[in-house]
Amino acid sequence: MLKTFSALWLVVAAAALAAAQPAARFDASSKEFRLDGGNATYVFGVNSRGELQQLYWGGRLAESDKLPAAVPDRGWASFDSSYSNTPQEYAGWGAGLFVEPALKVTFGDGNRDLILHYDSNRETKNGFDVVLKDISRKIFVTLHYSMDPQTGILARSATIENREPAPVTIEQAAAAAWALPRGHYTLNYLTGRWAGEWNLTQETLHPGARVLESRRGSTSHQANPWFAIQSGEPDEEHGEVWFGALAWSGSWRITVEQDQLDAVRVTGGFNPFDFGYVLHPGERLETPVFYGGYSAHGLGGASRLLHSFELHNILPRTEKTASLPVPRPRPVLYNSWEATEFNVNEAGQIALAEKAAALGVNRFVMDDGWFGQRKNDHAGLGDWYVNPQKFPHGLKPLIDRVHALGMDFGLWVEPEMVNPDSDLYRKHPDWVLNFPGRPRNEERNQLVLNLAREDVKDYVLSTLDKLLTENDIAFLKWDYNRNWSEPGWDQLPPNEQKKVYVTFTHNLYSILSELRRRHPNVEIESCSGGGGRVDLGILRYTDEVWPSDNTDPFDRLTIQDGFTYAYTPQVMMAWVTDSPHWLNSRSTSLEYRMLSSMQGSLGIGANIAKWNDDETALAKRLIAAYHEVQPTITQGDLYRLISPRNGSEFSATQTVNADKSQSVVFAFIHSTQEGRGFPILKLKGLNPEANYALTSIEGKADSRTPTVASGAYWMNHGLEMGPGFKGDFQAAAFRLDRK
Ligand code: GLA
Repeated sequence: MLKTFSALWLVVAAAALAAAQPAARFDASSKEFRLDGGNATYVFGVNSRGELQQLYWGGRLAESDKLPAAVPDRGWASFDSSYSNTPQEYAGWGAGLFVEPALKVTFGDGNRDLILHYDSNRETKNGFDVVLKDISRKIFVTLHYSMDPQTGILARSATIENREPAPVTIEQAAAAAWALPRGHYTLNYLTGRWAGEWNLTQETLHPGARVLESRRGSTSHQANPWFAIQSGEPDEEHGEVWFGALAWSGSWRITVEQDQLDAVRVTGGFNPFDFGYVLHPGERLETPVFYGGYSAHGLGGASRLLHSFELHNILPRTEKTASLPVPRPRPVLYNSWEATEFNVNEAGQIALAEKAAALGVNRFVMDDGWFGQRKNDHAGLGDWYVNPQKFPHGLKPLIDRVHALGMDFGLWVEPEMVNPDSDLYRKHPDWVLNFPGRPRNEERNQLVLNLAREDVKDYVLSTLDKLLTENDIAFLKWDYNRNWSEPGWDQLPPNEQKKVYVTFTHNLYSILSELRRRHPNVEIESCSGGGGRVDLGILRYTDEVWPSDNTDPFDRLTIQDGFTYAYTPQVMMAWVTDSPHWLNSRSTSLEYRMLSSMQGSLGIGANIAKWNDDETALAKRLIAAYHEVQPTITQGDLYRLISPRNGSEFSATQTVNADKSQSVVFAFIHSTQEGRGFPILKLKGLNPEANYALTSIEGKADSRTPTVASGAYWMNHGLEMGPGFKGDFQAAAFRLDRK
């Protein structure tokens, strides 16, 4: 008895000790900094020259483990200096640095040499601030480190401060540089274009640099600020993966380099292209945050960590949900864009709202067309008053009706833009990004307001504040439908105008944050012609995103697959729209369209006024089924069982909720060939000892499938589809509930 008791006590004590270990420890004698969280450890130290050098990033080490001291690299012949080869945490450009610098400056006297050495440090919550200083000049860089205890995801950023008596121009400033052990790697990254976002590329890392970037003033469809580097070949469930995501919605760059000695480094932050930030004496520049994590469970393990981190640590809460550990599941919304485009009016929107409410929709969103002289995309942006012809009594009658139907109300805005054909532009032609005397390049007949200007920032904030104060609006779809051109800011002295790249985005964040403070229950969606502005920076202020204007349910499978490598399905809005689809002229069944969208946060974007009774009944049934399992789908652990990429005949996903009491499975057939049956789905992440009952949401499992079986059965034997599950664009969905 005594023995059992003491053994138990030891276990409890050990657990308490482990929990008591601080996530961040500094050993003053060896000058080593160590961060532990989740299954990851990150260690760096001060080497004999005084540089901050990375020592380890990988799987979690034992508390007692000591890393070999920080020793500068020996260098390689006379052509590669030790300064360049040493994996520095944040290297200044100077002293013969040939790899990507973290920081590059030009001093007023023409000196461009910067060598950063350790100066001091202090502990912060879950991390450190480590101060570096140039060897002779008073340029201070404070590196911020903070590790999430649950996921081991490390947040890194830098504050650069000029304490010299003269201005300094910053030409390049990264948030962080990450070093990986030498090895053979596959780089994963996401690229795309309008209506074709979120393509995953997987390629072997070779010597040289792979530059992922946006020069467009915002995050962009073209590339997303996320990377994952896997040891060896790509593998969804096995193997080591180092991944990162940059929290910045302006022009950005991530450089992945394999140098001449095969060392791998990832450096990311402001895009140095056309960059030049003048830091006056006493001023500081804050870089974005670059998050980095490690998983030993393949790309799937990496994305599960990121999803959990985003849910717990990045996404905002409203006043009503402030105390929840994660945000509430997204209301199922209806959006009128594909049904009515710009032709919105009170009667038409009310008719759609009535139909939407009957389907079980929670939120009715009126899209573009309600304001100013907005008949098409040629006019109106900038004039955020309600169009009196379309809404003679203002928005109130529509909003009241939407509320009476049991839904809340959302509205489309595009606050950073202006049409030249608008009252705002006629009054303030100088408010847009431009180079005086040069053409102003229009895209979609619109120009970009220079949000970096205080007067423009104040206008945008006060206009939106008024809109939200005067109308009972629960949700804004915040759009942004072009990229920058002629990014001039002629109110500033010529050498300071490039500041626009930083100040614009900071002002955008500050408007979003102030709006949320003044209207603490308003929720916001980040949209930029689809997925042009999705990153961990904007996601601190927005509750969801619009991944793509491409709502074709088949294309969406690949878009959603790619999206989830970096971002949680919670923020992935997915509308069911009409068939044949406007983009691909593809016809699909309503079942298929519903199930494709149910993989994310469901919305309806079809012209439901035209739906017949059968369609209405089917959508109603599936929306009700979705409501029951939505937290599992959008907040659970996601397993991409079969990828739809590369023309795959089949695809399947599975999600499991946190306590493993529920799981949801989706299966899709592109086109059956040669009579092939759907592969048996070996499920993941269940409790092998628990029993789970299988229920169909749509479609049938094989008739011999047990209705109840253990987690071990579903994971080892697997779930088999019926022989009838064949054809083109077929879909099935199941739920498993613990008994
Ligand atoms: C963008 C959005 C669409 C829609 C239109 C309206 O393209 O991505 O969803 O809101 O603008 O003009």
